[in-house]
Amino acid sequence: MSGGRDAASGQLAICPGSFDPLTNGHVDIIRRAARLFDRVVIAVLNHSEKSPLFSVEQRLAMAREVFQDQPEVEVDAFEGLLVEYARRRRAEVVVRGLRAVSDFEYEMRMAHMNRQLEPSLETVFMMPSTAHSYLSSRLIKEIHRLGGDVSPFVPPAVQKHLLRGH
Ligand code: PNS
Repeated sequence: MSGGRDAASGQLAICPGSFDPLTNGHVDIIRRAARLFDRVVIAVLNHSEKSPLFSVEQRLAMAREVFQDQPEVEVDAFEGLLVEYARRRRAEVVVRGLRAVSDFEYEMRMAHMNRQLEPSLETVFMMPSTAHSYLSSRLIKEIHRLGGDVSPFVPPAVQKHLLRGH
């Protein structure tokens, strides 16, 4: 890959994920990435096999609402291999959040595999603030499904969608 950094566009980092839904932990990592890189793309995986709670359109809309005041943060959907998407976007960096040691093994395998597929694509791990280190989309969906209050864990735009019954 070449050309990920140039005077016109700066360095682009991809924050890929399912974001089903976006949590305050995701927002924390994306804001940290936006301080390090010139531009950040939130790349929402358009699942073919998993059945997400939110459609890809809804996940895109929620992320766009949350980051509407940050023009350096773009929201996009992708399908297929992440390395192919990164090539198309001429991105050199993938950012992933690491909450705990339990995330490490899966993330390390994915980073090595992506490096095997595209050696020039670098994976950068970032830690969210301690306050967000226990958040996950799966737990938030479960709490919401069982009638619990998820407002401390998700941005207001996401809570609005959850309350609306998505
Ligand atoms: O939020 P998630 O579900 O942990 O994100 C996982 C994601 C989307 C980053 C990963 O599943 C991915 O990159 N999927 C795209 C397909 C791909 O490239 N798979 C090979 C990864 S080594």
